[in-house]
Amino acid sequence: MMLLGICGSLRKASLNRALLNALCEVLPPDVQMALHGDLDLPIFNNDLDDPPGVLRLKAAIAAADGVVFSVPEYNYSIPGGLKNALDWVSRPPDRSPLRGKPIGMVGAASGMSGTIRAQTHLRQVLVYSDSPCLIQPEVLIPRARERFDADGRLTDPSTRVLLEKFGAAMAGFVRRCCG
Ligand code: FNR
Repeated sequence: MMLLGICGSLRKASLNRALLNALCEVLPPDVQMALHGDLDLPIFNNDLDDPPGVLRLKAAIAAADGVVFSVPEYNYSIPGGLKNALDWVSRPPDRSPLRGKPIGMVGAASGMSGTIRAQTHLRQVLVYSDSPCLIQPEVLIPRARERFDADGRLTDPSTRVLLEKFGAAMAGFVRRCCG
C-alpha cells in the first residue's frame, strides 16, 4: 500500500513535517508513505489552467491509495496555503483525485490546541470532495517543540506509540475503503 503524506506548512523546520517523517518510521511493514513537496502554489483562480505544481499534486494524490495530511493550526483553522491547494485539487469536482480517496490527518502545534480546530475544519472542507476520513485515533500533538530534537527527530515515546496506532488504523481504513 502506498500513502501520500502532505504537510500543510512551508516552513523548513516544520513540526508537522517532522511528524510526517516520524509516521513514516512506524508504518506497518506493507505500507509506505511518500512525502509530497511544498504546497507553494499560485492563488487559486478559476480562469487559469492548472499550474505545473497543481498537476503534480493531483497526479500524486491520484496515484496514492490514501492521503495523510499533517495540518498546522493557523488562527483556529487550516493554513491558507493548504486551503488553496485543496481548492485547486477539488476542481473540476467530478474529476478531483480527492473524490473517494481515503484520508487521514495528524497535526502538531507549538501550543496547547494540538490542532483540534484545524483538523475539524479540514474534515469539513473534505466533505465537498466526498473524501472518507479516518476518525480514530486522533493525532493531536500539543507542545510539539518539546517532543522533537533540534534536527526534527521525534524524542517522545508516547507520540511514537500514538503514531504506530494511527498507521495501523490508516492501513485498515484504506483497505476497507478500497474494498
Ligand atoms: C500559529 N500557531 C497556532 N497554534 C495553535 O495552536 N492555534 C492557532 O490558532 C495558531 N495560529 C497560528 C497562526 C499563525 C499565522 C502561525 C504562524 C502560527 C502556532 C503554530 O502551532 C506553530 O507555529 C506551529 O509550529 C506551526 O506548524 P509548523 O510550521 O511547525 O508545522
